[in-house]
Amino acid sequence: MADLTQDETILILDYGSQYTQLIARRVREAQVYCEIHPHTLSAEAIRRLNPRGIILSGGHHSVYDPGAPDLNPAVLALGVSVLGICYGMHLLARHCGGEVAPSATREYGPATLWHDEQQPNPFPHFFKPTHITGFKEGRPWPNKVWMSHGDHVSQVPNSFQVFAKSDNNIIAGMVSKDGRLVGIQFHPEVDHTEEGELLIQDFVLARCGCHGLWTPQGVIEREIALVRQKVGQDAVILGLSGGVDSAVTAALLHRAIGPQLTCIFVDNGLLRLHEGDEVMATFAQHLGVRVIRVAAEELFLSRLQGVVDPEQKRKIIGHTFIEVFEAEAKKMDGVRWLAQGTIYPDVIESAGGKTGTATTIKSHHNVGGLPAKMGLALLEPLRELFKDEVRQVGLALGLPARMIHRHPFPGPGLGVRILGEVRREFADLLRQADAIYMEELHRSGHYHKTDQAFAVFLPVKSVGVMGDGRSYEYVIALRAVETKDYMTAAYYPMPHELLARIAGRIINEVKGINRVTYDITSKPPGTIEWE
Ligand code: XMP
Repeated sequence: MADLTQDETILILDYGSQYTQLIARRVREAQVYCEIHPHTLSAEAIRRLNPRGIILSGGHHSVYDPGAPDLNPAVLALGVSVLGICYGMHLLARHCGGEVAPSATREYGPATLWHDEQQPNPFPHFFKPTHITGFKEGRPWPNKVWMSHGDHVSQVPNSFQVFAKSDNNIIAGMVSKDGRLVGIQFHPEVDHTEEGELLIQDFVLARCGCHGLWTPQGVIEREIALVRQKVGQDAVILGLSGGVDSAVTAALLHRAIGPQLTCIFVDNGLLRLHEGDEVMATFAQHLGVRVIRVAAEELFLSRLQGVVDPEQKRKIIGHTFIEVFEAEAKKMDGVRWLAQGTIYPDVIESAGGKTGTATTIKSHHNVGGLPAKMGLALLEPLRELFKDEVRQVGLALGLPARMIHRHPFPGPGLGVRILGEVRREFADLLRQADAIYMEELHRSGHYHKTDQAFAVFLPVKSVGVMGDGRSYEYVIALRAVETKDYMTAAYYPMPHELLARIAGRIINEVKGINRVTYDITSKPPGTIEWE
């Protein structure tokens, strides 16, 4: 089978822009495979990637700065289409005989762009053909774009034509006469550029000649072939957590190597209501994956007894997991591979991804450290996928939508949602309250409007009245946030009627809880979890 990544790869050279990952996401959304590499990538490595096109990212340098990152001549020598964005455009200009100058003022933020109709249009879907309502002062309707630059191209190379200018008369787009090299001063990859994704599509599909083969089905077929080739007849183990990444890894590997895969699912007693049974139902019963469920609740809870410090709890849960997992794996013969649900952002964000050399393990991943300790080779079939691609692949593999679109759940589970000491009694109360909360969020359509929502158990008692009697019971806090990257988050403005219904149900149905509060702290200064 032809390897699609070899046939149709777009290479993104990173010059330090904060938006480089977004460029890759836009290319992938156009269903074209791409890889981000540092701008220092060697000529030999560039040739080996055999890219259909190259995108030069932006960056905060000025091309005339001493030691500023430069353009590898191999990029131009390869003969493929090149798109230079911002700093990338300045590099193209400089290398082809043009000039770059500092702008009088830094242009940062929204800007308006005009395509010069007398000139070629390298991006026909982005710079749409004009129509009568699209004229302003006799000129075609402008594109709204996002700018972020200090320098600009002051003189385009002789072999280039200017096809777009900003309202400030800055050269915003230039294309070589053979159409192969294009520079743009704005950022089509950010949301603020209206329909910027069309420009990226125009580049990778029309200009580079890619065919949009990077579909979930294409990815699945490719990964299956690669996994089979790598693994041969060896046995593979995988820690199943109930999270999306390990679930999709399991489904994919099962499709590729069937019974050679064994999943180990450690029930640590800190899972959500019925979670263990649901994982078994989906994987073991429904998909026919071989799953070993290890009932380790007693062990985890006994180790957590009397421990109140959150970091200490995390360490105990992590170490105990590794111990249980390792003991289970040792019972099996011929295991050579440990599979992990590492995804592309984990790879890019790590130092290993930046240099493109080291194999990186998800830092907070439960099985980190295990491969080396156990002498196993790593298998990471989702390593090249963004989260939304992982979800699409999961759906295409037949995993339930509810599992695929579930909010993230931390590795230490309810262990960090029971404040202070973890006790079975507390975990049981929290599980019930959380299940009611989730049920109401789903029923009211608010679950998918929030990015993470959960209940927290507070081990303090407060006084209440129930019926004619006085109650003295524990407190549940409800948390729901909106966030893009989980680094910052805003509390979710949950409708009061819904909160009242959830609180009423929890207090009536969970014996032992008599008070419910809603957390309105954003991050920062709070964190998403309470511990
Ligand atoms: P915080 O609480 O730091 O959470 O604002 C940010 C995101 O990370 C998750 N989280 C964890 N995930 N192990 C994990 O696997 C952990 O120890 C852990 N602590 C927090 C949290 O659920 C949120 O999505």
